[in-house]
Amino acid sequence: MIFPDYRPRRMRQKDAFRRMIKETILTSDDLILPLFTIKGKNVKNSITSMPGHFQLSLDNLIKTVKEAHELGLPAVMLFGIPDKKDSLATKAYAKNGIVQNTIKALKDAVPDIMLITDVCLCQYTDHGHCGVVDGNHIDNDASIELIAKTALSHAEAGADMVAPSDMMDGRIAEIRQALDANNFSDVPIMSYAVKYCSSFYGPFRKAADSAPQFGDRRTYQMDPANGLEAIREATMDVEEGADIIMIKPALPYLDIISRIREEIDLPMAAYNVSGEFAMVKAAHEKGWIDGKKVMMETLTAIKRAGADMILTYFALEAANEMKK
Ligand code: PBG
Repeated sequence: MIFPDYRPRRMRQKDAFRRMIKETILTSDDLILPLFTIKGKNVKNSITSMPGHFQLSLDNLIKTVKEAHELGLPAVMLFGIPDKKDSLATKAYAKNGIVQNTIKALKDAVPDIMLITDVCLCQYTDHGHCGVVDGNHIDNDASIELIAKTALSHAEAGADMVAPSDMMDGRIAEIRQALDANNFSDVPIMSYAVKYCSSFYGPFRKAADSAPQFGDRRTYQMDPANGLEAIREATMDVEEGADIIMIKPALPYLDIISRIREEIDLPMAAYNVSGEFAMVKAAHEKGWIDGKKVMMETLTAIKRAGADMILTYFALEAANEMKK
């Protein structure tokens, strides 16, 4: 392929040619919309750093989920904002907790969209950590018991898939056992398998009121400097029974997405997180970039890197854009 015999520009001259040789095609099937559910009536609290996103009470949430379904999104991911927090996150696994109630109501209102639930304790603990705290230390094995209990309570309420985001060791096996022992062997687990200790979660922690009250998450989330460790984490979760492996964040970790794609043959998700979303929105508002084009380029890049599905706050906007 030596110039002038091969001229790559030849195939870029016409739109039809460009379409024919396009390697990555993004569709609404690839996108999952994260949503924040809160108690009350007609609540729609803006999340300042995430324009277009809100803490929604059920009535408003139903409208958004219907819109998502009509736009062809296969699933939404639910995050609960409880009315009370305590040291053992009891509202995370309460029968009538915010997520449990939301699932039941959504299943009636919009039966055909899949409901994935984020399974974690940090929104529900008064200290804001993703596990049980003992002094300054997070007790791994006590935490996974409560995490499995939370996952089971979501399945009992009707969740189609559970997605643990806590990064405790052994939680996938613990959840799988709890689900199987209770007749939920058909409920899959989407594991936040490779979750980095990232500063890109800032806007989300405000939205979900889940920032740690002391210290940080470095003793359980991964060091951004590590790549091989991602393979170990993903492999463990496959062995423990995960059905989908997630990498998070997405854009600063495209190398990890493509490495995991080579190593692991399970379906793979990537989470285009709150900070990634906020940066695009902020730069667009300043008139520094074209936010819509950057959105489409970002999502295409994440898919090109190897993700089969993308959790993204852009899901509705991108699905709308693709309809045009
Ligand atoms: C909870 C959780 C977090 C996110 C998803 N689940 C925050 C965290 O780990 O602190 C982040 C999502 C985002 O930034 O969009 N463990």
